[in-house]
Amino acid sequence: MNYTLTSPRTSPGDAECQSKLCSAIFTGTGFAVPERILTNNDLEKILETSDEWIVERTGMKERRIAKPEEAASDFALRASQQALADARIKPEEIDLIIVATVTGDMPFPSTACILQHKLGATNAAAMDLAAGCSGFIYALTTARQFIATGTYRTVLVVGVEVLSKITDWTDRSTAVLLADGAGAAILQASTEKERGIIATYLGADGSHGKDLYMPAGGSAIPASLESIQQRLHYLKMNGSAIFKIAVRSMADVVRRLLDKTKLPAEEIKLIIPHQANLRIIEAMAKLINFPMEKVFVNIQKYANTSSASTIIALDEARKQGLIHPGDKVILVAFGAGLTWGGTLVCF
Ligand code: ACO
Repeated sequence: MNYTLTSPRTSPGDAECQSKLCSAIFTGTGFAVPERILTNNDLEKILETSDEWIVERTGMKERRIAKPEEAASDFALRASQQALADARIKPEEIDLIIVATVTGDMPFPSTACILQHKLGATNAAAMDLAAGCSGFIYALTTARQFIATGTYRTVLVVGVEVLSKITDWTDRSTAVLLADGAGAAILQASTEKERGIIATYLGADGSHGKDLYMPAGGSAIPASLESIQQRLHYLKMNGSAIFKIAVRSMADVVRRLLDKTKLPAEEIKLIIPHQANLRIIEAMAKLINFPMEKVFVNIQKYANTSSASTIIALDEARKQGLIHPGDKVILVAFGAGLTWGGTLVCF
């Protein structure tokens, strides 16, 4: 059964928020994916791959792919409108928009500014944040700081990617994994200390940057005929290196969140991990001795949507009635950078 996220029971005044740290609670969520479904069987027709290999090695069965004319802000808009309706607030009430993405509409203006205009969120500041697949976790953590300090009361946090547009469709080692979509959450200030984001942890190791990157299109290698001919505007990945770091870093994040909060693992209702590979998720759960029945997986439907993946999964888990008031949930991710991070949330 679905349940409605509740507004702050006690809404802090500015002075109150500035004098004692406020909680950042979720008051709305939403997600949007492209209509077009690309199945493993469809991929068999364009790549030397098979449904059997993809399911066995990744757990993915199908993914959503944007139309040529669709951009990140189109999906971000639909997801944000759902989150606003869920929170029962108007766009004008948003103080800050943070969009986590590595596939924004264009290098600048930010996708957050494009979204601000499309939404009519005329009172909001807006910025993008790039932390690969950990982007939504980094953005949540950033939003929490603005709320805790009393700077802002209402923050829209979006994770969105259109990875299909930076996918090398001749490279079977990445093309089968990547997909498009957006998720959005409204975070609001509350004086209820027991609810909201209880703990966060972020990490990074830039020495592994080239294990997952897009070489061209920035100031290091601007677009040129040569960069296009060398296929440098596509995502490149060292899959096996990433796999090992992903398992270790996500397990480490969960342990640190439990240590920080002194909560036993049994008190966690659900872990919602980044949906990069079912084997990564299972290996993480095994490493921390956490039952897979309490780990949310929707990779079979949406594949890897990078910074959108954890918030799409959170919204789906809510809609499936898996999260109730008072439940403690861990969101955990890793991604390009390399980066990793997690948040422990009480709903
Ligand atoms: N279809 C069929 N065969 C394939 C495919 C495919 N799509 N892709 C690779 N293979 C082949 C390889 O060529 C290799 O063949 P070989 O033994 O003849 O050389 C064989 O399958 C095994 O390849 P591995 O790379 O060892 O396969 P592995 O089991 O490690 O799975 C995978 C590869 C799925 C990429 C895995 O390493 C992985 O998930 N890594 C992490 C990926 C990830 O999470 N990336 C971060 C997110 S992406 C982002 O941030 C946007």
